Amino acid sequence: MTHVIDGNAVADEIRSDLSESIDALGDAGVEPGLATVLMSEDPASETYVSMKQRDCEEVGIDGIHVEIDPEAPAEELYDTIDELNEDPEVHGILVQMPVPDHVDEREVLNRIDPVKDVDGFHPENVGKLVAGHARYKPCTPHGVQKLLEAADVDPEGKDVVIVGRSNIVGKPLANLLIQKTDLGNATVTVCHSRTNDLGAKTRNADVVVAACGVPQLVDGEMLTEGTTVIDVGVNRVDADTDKGYELVGDVDFESAKEKAGAITPVPGGVGPMTRAMLLYNTVKAAGLQKD
Ligand code: GUN
Repeated sequence: MTHVIDGNAVADEIRSDLSESIDALGDAGVEPGLATVLMSEDPASETYVSMKQRDCEEVGIDGIHVEIDPEAPAEELYDTIDELNEDPEVHGILVQMPVPDHVDEREVLNRIDPVKDVDGFHPENVGKLVAGHARYKPCTPHGVQKLLEAADVDPEGKDVVIVGRSNIVGKPLANLLIQKTDLGNATVTVCHSRTNDLGAKTRNADVVVAACGVPQLVDGEMLTEGTTVIDVGVNRVDADTDKGYELVGDVDFESAKEKAGAITPVPGGVGPMTRAMLLYNTVKAAGLQKD
């Protein structure tokens, strides 16, 4: 029987472990604070940010939300980041990506105080991660590691194929999985849109992580019996539903489930873990800034 990995259940465990750390910080007079900044009218981004704020409220993190008109000058976002950097009640800052075209994404990432960069996207934090001493593990890759752990799949010695080379998922995940640490020691292949014969790569994998943003790209034909499949994709595709769309991953769940040993669903797999690891990083950030 294929194990369908329940991301909500694993995320619940992480949240309940966090509540102890949040209580301890409270005893020391610190309430962790997370600022989310949204400069977009993309409905998916709006939903993600509001879920992150709701998560904060549920676990006792002070959530601060700033919305900036997507037509506003880029300086408005840069100034907001400067103010949040200076605010002692804000321990973590997350600017929801993507930002509008007239905003320089690299300037945004460079501008966030690295100690408050709970996404782990600042070049200083990327450098620390690659060098093997991450300050903050980026939320989705960290969530993927935790899902593998929960499914009893130790990456050590395994062939892991990551489909996708983004700065948010593919690249940091590859770095984490090759490290000489727990939940590392894997042999990692990073595939992308220019990879020749993707199926030949994925069929040789013990673990496939799909994070390319192409709906249902990875199907059962591309997998060997028993493979662990982690689906990072969240794609809105037109469908005859109340909302007019449905969410599908980068994996064709039905055919992949026939082959996989364990597989994450969409929704209910990686998504809740990304959110839980953001809370984890925010609590860590509050601890680092406590003294
Ligand atoms: N947009 C999509 N994923 C992410 C993420 O992990 N962090 C931020 N800031 N924006 C995103």
